[in-house]
Order: sequence, then C-alpha cells, then structure tokens
Amino acid sequence: MTSEAMFWFRFAHLLLQILTVNAKVPAIIVFGDSSVDSGNNNHVSTSLKSNFAPYGRDFYGGKPTGRFSNGRIPTDFISEAFGNKPIVPAYLDPTCDIKDFATGVCFASAGTGYDNATSDVLSVIPLWKELEFYKEYQKKLRGYLGKEKANEVLGEALYLISIGTNDFLENYYIFPGRSSQFSVMEYQNFLVQIARNFVTDLHLLGAQKIALGGLPPMGCLPLERTTNIFFGSDCIEEYNSVAKDFNEKLNGMVTDLNKKLAGIKLMFSNPYDILSQIIQNPSSFGFENAEIACCGTGLFEMSYMCNKKNPFTCSDANKYVFWDSFHPTEKTNKIVADYVVKNCLSQFL
Ligand SMILES: *[C@@H]1O[C@H](CO)[C@@H](O)[C@H](O)[C@H]1NC(C)=O
Repeated sequence: MTSEAMFWFRFAHLLLQILTVNAKVPAIIVFGDSSVDSGNNNHVSTSLKSNFAPYGRDFYGGKPTGRFSNGRIPTDFISEAFGNKPIVPAYLDPTCDIKDFATGVCFASAGTGYDNATSDVLSVIPLWKELEFYKEYQKKLRGYLGKEKANEVLGEALYLISIGTNDFLENYYIFPGRSSQFSVMEYQNFLVQIARNFVTDLHLLGAQKIALGGLPPMGCLPLERTTNIFFGSDCIEEYNSVAKDFNEKLNGMVTDLNKKLAGIKLMFSNPYDILSQIIQNPSSFGFENAEIACCGTGLFEMSYMCNKKNPFTCSDANKYVFWDSFHPTEKTNKIVADYVVKNCLSQFL
C-alpha cells in the first residue's frame, strides 16, 4: 500500500470507529414486505420465495437468503450505517436465536400489506401477525437481557416499516374485492388508518424512534411496464400518482401522530423521489437499464420464475436498476438507503 493509500485507509478506519462509538441505536427492528424481508418467507407456506439462485448471487458467499435481490436490501445498509451489523436477520430463521436478534431483527414478509386481504392472496404473514411476533420477541429479549436492559433497548431501537405496494398491485388492482368496495381514494384512507393504528400500537409497546416508509413509483416496476406493453412499456402513471397521493396522506398522518403521541419520534421516509430520479436518469447513477430487470427476460420473472435455469439473466446486476420484475438490485438498494439515512434518519444517528 502506498503511504497515501495507507493514510486514507487509516482515516476511513478511524471514521468508522467514531461512527461506531457514536451509533446511538442498540437495535434495528424491521416490519414490512419484500422490500425489507430478509428471509422470513423461507419458513412460511407460500409460493412467494427467493431462497434459491440466482437470488443472492452478490450477497456474502453468494448465498440466497430469501432477500428479493441479488445482494443486500435497504435495511441491511441502514443497519450498517448506524454502526450495527451489516445484515438484519429474519425472525423465523431457525439458525438464529435471541442473542443474534438482540441487535437487529426483521419481521417482514414478502407479499404482505397493510390490508389483511393482501396477505391472504399469497398466504404470507399479515401485518398484525408481525406485531404478534414482535411481542414474542420482547418477551425473549427480557428473558435474555433482563427486564430493565431489554426495555432500554426496545425504547432506543430504530424501527423501520416498509409496506403498502402490494395492497395496490397484488390486491386492489387485481381482485374485484376491495375495488368494488372502495374507490382508490377510500382504499388509501382505509390503509392509512391501519398504518396509524399499527404505529400507535408499536408506540404503546415501547417504540419511540420509528421511520415509516412511503411507496416507490410503483407504476415503473418492470412488471407493471410489461402490462403496459401496448403503450410502449411506459410507466403506468395512474399507479405513480396513487403512490404519490398515498405518500402525502402517510406524511400527514405522521405529522399528526408526532403531536398526539408523547415521546414518539416518527419520521416519514420517502423513497419515491430518489427512485424516480434513478429511473428517469439511470446513467447519472451508473446504470444502463431502468426498464427491464436483470433476472430472466426482465419483463415478468420473480420468485420461482427467476431461477438459475433461466438463460436470459444478465451477467452484471450493477448495470440494472431492477433485479427481478418487482425488486431493485443491491446497487439501487444502497443508493436508496444512503439517501434515506442522509435525508431522514440522520437525526437518529
Ligand atoms: C386483521 O385481522 C386481525 C386478526 O383476525 C384482526 O384483529 C384485525 O382487526 C384485522 N384488521 C382489519 C383492519 O380488519
């Protein structure tokens, strides 16, 4: 190593130490859907899984963990940015125990939504059940650390929630049930009320630092573009505008709850704008393709359709914004996580 490289290496190391010492959250606790599921669906009877190649091919050891990406997901990067471990383990992973979960745990389940009817579609873990698992976790943590220390960890932990896309794309716009019952605006209000109750319940259980995630520009997911093939595979603007409206409502609810719930530090963490910038201008972020995904033809494959027998999968996922037809690549996940840490979560650092 040259002396200059040595200097930067030491400098980076020192910086990391300072960051680690200053990391103020004892644990990262995650709720949500496939955007943040680190492998819970591996242990659920559902067809929505990703614990096989080529998923995870750029993860540590090339391991398919059940994350819906070629590598790490945003919550892993956020955990690392907080000086915590670089991956957040899945609560249902039988190889982990409370010792592993004491600094970070993920209750998320791919395919789930705010609405119980959404989690029913692919028989995944409903959001209310994620909260039941969290209560069980609290008990185990108290057993492991003692009541006082555990309560301190639970009160100081950073809670990340990312969910909602499936309520629209897997449920409302696919099945007649909710769409015959609600206009899309009414459905948004219905979901926001569930989000509000969820955050309130979480706060009652002791959570204080909570980041509630917004929806991505979901009309630009490759799968949605594919259904728009007769219109040049453009983004579906209706879905994007629903995502924007929904995000505004969530943001309003967040402002309101901050006034109503004593001691809560609730942040709205919005991935919409950064993802939209990446999709509109992929080359300025180092990508070559934002329209189709890396896996398979890139038009529709995800879960079991994205498998290693598929001959069309791209060789360098870093050139693609999307890994499968519904989920970003690790590179995109890192950019989004960095953005969210800087613009939203930095006050918790
Ligand atoms: C979802 O289901 C659970 C368990 O049956 C129930 O307690 C909850 O009220 C339901 N949520 C909504 C919004 O209907």
